[in-house]
Amino acid sequence: MAELTPAPDGKRVFIQTFGCQMNELDSGKMLRLLESDGYAAAADPSDADVILINTCSVREKPEQKVRSLLGRYKKLKHANEDLVIGVTGCYAQQAKGELLRRFDDLDLVMGPDAIPRLPALLMDVRAGRRELATEQLDRQDYPFTNDLVFRGDRRVSAFVTIQKGCDNLCSFCIVPFTRGREVSRSADDVIDEVRRLAAEGVREVTFLGQNVNSYGLKKSNEIPFHELLARAAGVEGIARVRFTTSNPWDLDEGLVALYANEPRLSSYFHLPVQAGADSMLVRMRRRHTRERYLELVEELRAARPDLALSTDIIVGFPGETEEEHQATLSLLSAVRYDFIYSFKYSPRPFTGAVRKYDDDVPVDVKKRRLREVQDLQRTITDEALASWVGKDVEVLVEGPSKRDSSWLAGRIGQNWMVNFKGSERLCGELVTVRVTEALTNSLAGEVVTRASVARSALPILG
Ligand code: SAH
Ligand code: F3S
Repeated sequence: MAELTPAPDGKRVFIQTFGCQMNELDSGKMLRLLESDGYAAAADPSDADVILINTCSVREKPEQKVRSLLGRYKKLKHANEDLVIGVTGCYAQQAKGELLRRFDDLDLVMGPDAIPRLPALLMDVRAGRRELATEQLDRQDYPFTNDLVFRGDRRVSAFVTIQKGCDNLCSFCIVPFTRGREVSRSADDVIDEVRRLAAEGVREVTFLGQNVNSYGLKKSNEIPFHELLARAAGVEGIARVRFTTSNPWDLDEGLVALYANEPRLSSYFHLPVQAGADSMLVRMRRRHTRERYLELVEELRAARPDLALSTDIIVGFPGETEEEHQATLSLLSAVRYDFIYSFKYSPRPFTGAVRKYDDDVPVDVKKRRLREVQDLQRTITDEALASWVGKDVEVLVEGPSKRDSSWLAGRIGQNWMVNFKGSERLCGELVTVRVTEALTNSLAGEVVTRASVARSALPILG
């Protein structure tokens, strides 16, 4: 990690992040905004003048998590009464003023739409006020704050927000209530940001949105999602373009065709299915059917035969029968995903499911079904990983390996991390690696040769 130098006024901020990539990006934005305001990053909460807990409310029990963290930070506050503590992100948006009422030590509660106002809010807190900022911005007003805060880290891979919110209202999901209505960022802004990132040495961009396939559809004169991807892939210096997350409903032929025609579109697709039985999909308000989903998978694989697929699965959704559960298992066997994220259903406030159904699948049944889903997938994932051994793969080198800094780590287009020995000078380059070993969720190998023209002018990760 880079050496931390204290800010001119010596203030440090510690940001603790839970949840999805959107939250990771939001934490990065908050840090950069505060850095521009004279703060530095604290390596530990005990070194911080400001502690922000960036929460997720999708699945975990966020209330308990916040309570236990605040319990811990309370001691720090007693030792340093100027310490500012804030809760941000989706749980802040969900619980709003209730959080300030319940937790005396809390100074700030702020939803995702208020991020650009963070420095001003902290000034108000320093002036002695407790601040609540959870109003949601509508279509016209939402600022995609990246350009406001981008300072050009020396990174190889970067997230770019292309859309906020979601209009889908899947019955289990709280996201439309915490992140608000769907808003697409203008394509010109997105591409400007990609160009700027490429000029800083970034070689791979991941577009972020809750429902990226519907990008631009609700705006007049906006290009569709696949055209946005194609424009980004055409930006000089960009070697790979990725995106997350998709809803199968809005996936169109244009995107399928792009897999056939644009090699810089990464060979990885996260396509959440949630369940294998149509009756469950109806209760979940997912709009796709099992048959349509399998057709899409077939079309995608026809366009890009080496495509890696992953998905999200929920077990124990209200009313889930053994037969419905078996349908999820058989879907996993039919698709043979490379990887899955699987969760036990938990009722979330405001959602359609919590209003309409009882959470009636017993905890031990949920646990057993989750285990069955994960055991089956483990076998499939092991086989998928083993199939890479002996093959030469193209790796985009991201930096020193987390486990051993004398090794490098990077991803293949199919999203698997590959570790191998090599010089740090290879960061940001596409390197051909021969895979020698399949590990639990990654691969190991040896460099064969550099695949791309060396970009020696690229900054090297520190
Ligand atoms: N935008 C994404 C999903 C966002 S939430 C999409 O289109 O699917 C990420 C994942 O969390 C979901 O795909 C779902 O599998 C899981 N999830 C959401 N709400 C949940 C709940 N109430 N209980 C369990 N898992 C949930
Ligand atoms: Fe959630 Fe469904 Fe949107 S899972 S984020 S409501 S597509």
